[in-house]
Amino acid sequence: MKPATQSHVDQPGAHLRLVSDRAAGDKSGIKLSGVSKTYRSRDGDVPSLRPLDFHINQGEFFVVVGPSGCGKSTLLKMISGLLPPTTGEILVEGEQVTKPHGNVGIVFQNALLLPWRNILSNVMLPIDMKKLSREKYLPRAKELLKLVGLEGFEKKLPWQLSGGMQQRASICRALVHDPKIMLMDEPFGALDAMTRERMNVELMRIQRETGKTVLLITHSIPEAVFLADRVLVMTERPGAIAAIYDVPLPRPRSLDAMSDPVFTELVQRIRKHFFTQGSLD
Ligand SMILES: Nc1ncnc2c1ncn2[C@@H]1O[C@H](COP(=O)(O)OP(=O)(O)OP(=O)(O)O)[C@@H](O)[C@H]1O
Ligand SMILES: [Mg+2]
Repeated sequence: MKPATQSHVDQPGAHLRLVSDRAAGDKSGIKLSGVSKTYRSRDGDVPSLRPLDFHINQGEFFVVVGPSGCGKSTLLKMISGLLPPTTGEILVEGEQVTKPHGNVGIVFQNALLLPWRNILSNVMLPIDMKKLSREKYLPRAKELLKLVGLEGFEKKLPWQLSGGMQQRASICRALVHDPKIMLMDEPFGALDAMTRERMNVELMRIQRETGKTVLLITHSIPEAVFLADRVLVMTERPGAIAAIYDVPLPRPRSLDAMSDPVFTELVQRIRKHFFTQGSLD
């Protein structure tokens, strides 16, 4: 066994390195410098995130795991421009984020479909908002709905679908305009285990074929390791970076990757963070 590359890595395996920020000087991708968040409320301040510094490379599949309430959704909302940070700076493709920006697809923790629009119209929402060609994107919207098993539900209203089906429609909505960056907040949380695995494989295929940069939040450590190029592990609130791990599993990955010893070891390693923090998700 090789010696640790960083002192705070516990029993490192030769192939499981805790990595530092790889391309910190790079202008592409997403870069956070000293980004923190404290919510101000009448009952007092709620410190949600401690200052964070990290860089997500262009075309990278980057996954964040952390205990409930540690600030994961807050982080995603700040990167999307929906929420201003209290301190620090966020750069997306070299541009500072000050407001919601164009080339991003977002899947929120709740599906957030518009109740008066049918499923197809909900998926087409970014096309309408960006005033893109309906004619051009309609076949793509239908194709995406078919991909996630919602063929035949195009004309239904959101309340006529289960929570998992609504969430699948919201994933189609995030992908329809082919954004360069995908921000996904527990996108598969409401899905049954089999659909979830199918969606994992499908998302990896889309990411690989299109070179999208993906930031995905999940409560599932195995899902994180299966999907990610790197996994960022957060501490309890106010969230900070506990560790960032490289996932050295080759791509393309099939579900068989989950029986690889590297996979199992990394899942265990990440799980330990939550045991030592006294919380398990
Ligand atoms: N609008 C708000 N006003 C005040 N406090 C907030 C607000 N939104 C979130 N918080 C607080 O900030 C902290 C982080 O919230 P956030 O939703 O980012 O957590 P999370 O990591 O996404 O949790 P979960 O895993 O349960 O989704 C929580 O303690 C929460 O109570
Ligand atoms: Mg959340």
